[in-house]
Amino acid sequence: MRILSGVQPSGKLHIGNYFGAIKQFVDMQNEGDGYYFIADGHALTTVRDRDTMREYVRDVALDYMALGLDPSKATLFRQSDIPQVFELSWILATLAPMGLLERAHSYKDKIAKGFSPEVGLFTYPILMAADILVYDSDAVPVGKDQKQHLEITRDLAIKFNLAYTKDFDPQTGEGGVLRLPREIIKDESAVVPGTDGEKMSKSYGNTIDLFGTDKQLKKQIMGIVTDSTPLEDPKDPEKCNVFTLLKLFASESELEEIAGEYRAGGVGYGHFKGKLLEKVHELLDPAREKRAELLQNLDYVEDVLQKGAAQAREAASDVLDRVKSACGLKPA
Ligand code: ADP
Ligand code: TRP
Repeated sequence: MRILSGVQPSGKLHIGNYFGAIKQFVDMQNEGDGYYFIADGHALTTVRDRDTMREYVRDVALDYMALGLDPSKATLFRQSDIPQVFELSWILATLAPMGLLERAHSYKDKIAKGFSPEVGLFTYPILMAADILVYDSDAVPVGKDQKQHLEITRDLAIKFNLAYTKDFDPQTGEGGVLRLPREIIKDESAVVPGTDGEKMSKSYGNTIDLFGTDKQLKKQIMGIVTDSTPLEDPKDPEKCNVFTLLKLFASESELEEIAGEYRAGGVGYGHFKGKLLEKVHELLDPAREKRAELLQNLDYVEDVLQKGAAQAREAASDVLDRVKSACGLKPA
């Protein structure tokens, strides 16, 4: 089974990225042939400075490995090292209905906010489809916000298969050139809330970063928005952002105990924020140490990415050959 996913190098990674995506990557690396890449082509739609781009790409590579992706188990690479992705992207674009892309949330949201988007943002889902289809991926672990992109990916694969193969059955996916992938979305971490209670996102300034300094981490956690229930009053844990975040880190029995403290009253939200900070440190400190080590070994990190790219190119060129033969760009 080929498992594939990617993260854009468009800013510092946060705990939403970890629980929504990267944790699944790590958990699944023993279950199949994992391909995990850095979507630098996608990041070009927002990052417009070369030094920043290089820094963010390096950061995602370090973050992946520090959080537990193991280059001896999974293939790690940069999207832009695989030219076949961009070739397939064009071929898919020739089949993609404008209406399908006009309905994409990423594009619609930008329009709603009054931006005038570039063509690259409009065609973003096509590049993502190419990322997935070019390696014959079976499963794609992502956060819930990527579900529509996976639907578009299947739509495009079906369109290609219907256009260029005789025996394709869209119900079963059998008989096509492009394999139909499925998304893997974990319910409990589908949407991790940010410090303001909205979805945690780099673009909303409401993140708890994975690899900030101790001081930044504390500031972000202490800044979580809570209501104005007085310290002595009982509190409802289910209505508190801090508790929602604690659920990601604490065990069942720890949670029960903490919920009891909320209901009993007499403790302020600062106390629960302190607990959360402790839990975040417990989970992330080993990864932070590992990351600091890797930072001293950037040649090794680059070597991992180059070896990964060589392997990914091999898989991608097989699929692209099939695609080109099917549509007449190469002899059958
Ligand atoms: P951001 O919204 O911060 O820019 P990305 O769009 O780069 O994050 O997301 C990278 C991965 O992390 C995707 O698989 C996405 O679904 C997941 N992800 C991002 N934010 C969250 C969140 N708040 N909760 C769950 N998953 C998330
Ligand atoms: N669009 C994804 C995000 O913002 C990143 C991404 C690009 C991706 N290509 C992909 C994820 C292919 C999974 C598979 O998070």
